[in-house]
Amino acid sequence: MKTKIAVLVSGGGTNLQALIDAQGSVLKSGEIVLVVSNNAGAYALERARKAGIATAVVLKKECGSQQAFEEKLKEVLTEHGIELIVLAGFMTILTESFTACYPQRIINVHPSLIPSFCGEGFYGLRVHQAALDYGVKVTGATVHFVNEIPDGGKIIAQKAVYIEDGDTPETLQRRVMEQAEWVLLPQAAETVSAALQKV
Ligand code: GAR
Repeated sequence: MKTKIAVLVSGGGTNLQALIDAQGSVLKSGEIVLVVSNNAGAYALERARKAGIATAVVLKKECGSQQAFEEKLKEVLTEHGIELIVLAGFMTILTESFTACYPQRIINVHPSLIPSFCGEGFYGLRVHQAALDYGVKVTGATVHFVNEIPDGGKIIAQKAVYIEDGDTPETLQRRVMEQAEWVLLPQAAETVSAALQKV
């Protein structure tokens, strides 16, 4: 039996697409059975539908509080028998009452080399803007386990990407995705899915 994976998304979903495309090749031990978004307009939902994957939308403002939002997420994940949660551009921080329910079963992709440019407030293009503002010459991406500390869980994989003259946050984001995120995330999802089969 393959490890049942849910991918949590908020936006365009290029990392979700990389995971979908990796199914059957790099991603053999796990199967994406559910995509959950906290944004009804996320293009990632369209990508899931095109791939025939079940989708769910959980809105924080409809739930009323962070706690109710996390309870609803848990309910949806339990309904689908989810064993591994992949955060792929999921732009909301999950508290300990959620993360503690899934020890070593939530992974996240972050677009920098942690511990640089990470933690609260560092997401999406802001991460790349911060790297350019600092003037680092090398950045990259990290896949890590998720715990109660934002971007603070154990690192699973990292890949470095060079910054080039004239980079903008947008050009850098694209290069980090192509060279690092879309490669690392499916590999890490496979590694963790395979490990969970042995639990
Ligand atoms: C990705 O670069 C991902 O690493 C980043 O958001 C982007 C989502 O793109 N995540 C974070 O910044 C989390 N802290 P996508 O929707 O096209 O996969």
